[in-house]
This record gives sequence, C-alpha cells and structure tokens, in this order.
Amino acid sequence: MKERLIVALDLEDGNENFELSEKLKGTVSWVKIGYQALYSLGTEVFAWYSENRINTFLDLKFHDIPNTVARDVGTMTKHGANMINMHASGGIEMMQAARIRADDVAQDRRIDKPILLGVTILTSTNEAEFQFQFGSERHLSNQVVFLAKQAKEAGLDGVVASPLEIELIRKACGDDFIIVTPGIRPSWANRGDQKRITTPSEAINRGADFLVVGRPIIEADDPIEAAEMILDEMRGE
Ligand code: C5P
Repeated sequence: MKERLIVALDLEDGNENFELSEKLKGTVSWVKIGYQALYSLGTEVFAWYSENRINTFLDLKFHDIPNTVARDVGTMTKHGANMINMHASGGIEMMQAARIRADDVAQDRRIDKPILLGVTILTSTNEAEFQFQFGSERHLSNQVVFLAKQAKEAGLDGVVASPLEIELIRKACGDDFIIVTPGIRPSWANRGDQKRITTPSEAINRGADFLVVGRPIIEADDPIEAAEMILDEMRGE
C-alpha cells in the first residue's frame, strides 16, 4: 500500500515541506508537489526526491491553450516529475499535445514517461455548486465520466476524481485506467473544505489506484504515525 499513498506537501513554508519529506522518507513513496511546495522548494527538489526514492506527483492542474500546456508538461518532465496533471476540461487537443510533448521529452532523455492525469471535478465541489458554477443541469457524476472518457481518448493515463466516482469511471474507462483520489478522510480527521469524501479503506475497496492525503497527515502532531495509521486502514487492518 506504501506505493499507493501520496502525501500532499501543502505546507506554506519550504523548509517545513522539506523537513516533513525527510521525516516521511521511509514511510511513503510518493509526495504531491503543488504551487506552494514548488515555489518554496524550487525545481531542484525533483532530483532530491529521486535520489531518496520518492516519486513526485506535480499537481499544478494545467489549463491553457494546447501549445502552452504541452510546453509546461514538457518542461516538468525534463525536471523529473513522475506524475503530472491538467484539467480535463481544457479539452482533448490540449491533453493530446501534452501527451505528445511528455513522451518526446522522455524519449530524448531516456527517462520513464510521466503518468499524465486529467483532473475531473474538484472534490471540494458538490452537485449544487457544480450546477450553479457551470450553469448546467447535468449531474456532476455524468460530467466526471464525460471528462474521464475525454482524458482517455487523448492518451492520458488516468484521472483525478472523488472516490465516490470510481465505479462509474472504471465502467467507462476500464481496469487499466489510473484513478487517483483526493477527498480522503479517516474517521479521526477533520473534513476541512472537502465534500465528496470517503475513508482510506473505502477508497481502496472502491478500486482507487492512488490515494492523495494532505491535512490528516501534514497537520497531525505526528505525521509518521498518521501516515502509518492510514496505510493500516488501506490494508484493511
Ligand atoms: O488536505 P487534503 O487531504 O484535503 O488535500 C487534498 C489535496 O489534493 C490538496 O492538495 C488538493 O489541492 C488536492 N486535490 C483535491 N481535489 C482534486 C485534485 C487535487 O483535493 N480534484
């Protein structure tokens, strides 16, 4: 299960993110780097994580014209990000351009192709908010499946989605399609702003490939103990 837990390094201070990574080194094998961590730590950290056998999920949720996103993804592939995401709502052309560029860079550098993911609908959004924001009467889950199918058609490896939508995405996109789920809350943790959530064991039972967990670990008094408790829950212990 260690290979399936991604810790979101969402602390604002670079040194704190770094210290946390040092602590978690033996316990987890993936970290998620967002804007805060990237700005505070700099791109050199990809080399540090790779030397310390920690994989990196770069969560910048790119959304721009195809040429720009392709270059963004290509640049981050060069830096060594192992997993990179973009908003699936950016469109098939944008996702295809990113796929092509990432694969070209990986081939040139003789490195593994990064896992590319499409972000569907954020787990902090509920049905009513989704319909209001997009002026749509469509059900949120239908939109999630629609975006997941587009990501697959564009050649992405998978999507980021709520654990509550795993079953529908699996049915539509198949067993090999990677599903990464944030919105994970063990019973002992605060919900925060997350709305479409499940516990770690429920997410695994529903078929998630990777679980992204931030605050329940990074804000815990003992982050290692919190990560270990979540890993136990993922194993069904
Ligand atoms: O602290 P928490 O466990 O809620 O952190 C979840 C992380 O996953 C955050 O870094 C958030 O930006 C990210 N995320 C999310 N929903 C998505 C995509 C990413 O919560 N759809």
